[in-house]
Amino acid sequence: MEKRDELYRGKAKSVYQTDDADRLILLFRNDTSAFDGKRIEQLDRKGMVNNKFNAFIMQKLEAAGVPTQFDKLLGDNECLVKKLDMIPVECVVRNYAAGSLVKRLGVEEGIKLEPSTFELFLKNDEKGDPFINESHVVAFGWGTAEQLVEMKKLSLKVNEVLTQLFDEAGLLLVDFKLEFGVFHGQIVLGDEFSPDGCRLWDKQTREKMDKDRFRQGLGGVIEAYEEVAKRLGVPL
Ligand code: TMP
Repeated sequence: MEKRDELYRGKAKSVYQTDDADRLILLFRNDTSAFDGKRIEQLDRKGMVNNKFNAFIMQKLEAAGVPTQFDKLLGDNECLVKKLDMIPVECVVRNYAAGSLVKRLGVEEGIKLEPSTFELFLKNDEKGDPFINESHVVAFGWGTAEQLVEMKKLSLKVNEVLTQLFDEAGLLLVDFKLEFGVFHGQIVLGDEFSPDGCRLWDKQTREKMDKDRFRQGLGGVIEAYEEVAKRLGVPL
């Protein structure tokens, strides 16, 4: 597979064309962003850890019947993926109250949400990823009603699979964000799954082991990501 021009540079990953029109290379950088890119820092080893973490999780999801864009690891910081037509909407599933939900509703952090909630945000840094609902997605043509049904179904399936996987590693999957795209007409999970895009708390102590350590200036960010990877058995 030949790496060609950069197609897109995101806040934490760069995307390259390849000699196959249906495949892209994702490069996971050490850049760590919070608050819609207002704060960006370099964290040693983060690109490598997230690339390998993502590969491990995507393969677990694929095995559980969730179609993903992941094809294979290419090196410490790169993987080969299917080229999706991305839907510019972030799907967030929450099992415990945290983050923007706590701010928006004034509820206590850590309360269990039953059933788990499903929320949509527009992927738009300048507008601060605003909270939207399904009618906005259809009315503005970001996705169809049928695609939304599939995205919700797959998001809840991911929650089921990963809640159990993290539970076995002594971790609570508090919430997470997914992005989907279309590949030859099918809705497929895209982007990445790593501690950058989810909240993970130690089951016993409720210690935060995800990007909230960076957002809240708690330190030990990569050490926490590596500890999560170790507990899951992700080879780094
Ligand atoms: P929130 O509490 O800020 O809405 O975030 C919910 C989850 O989604 C949390 O695990 C962080 C993740 N997330 C991202 O990864 N990127 C984003 O742009 C947003 C808004 C959330």
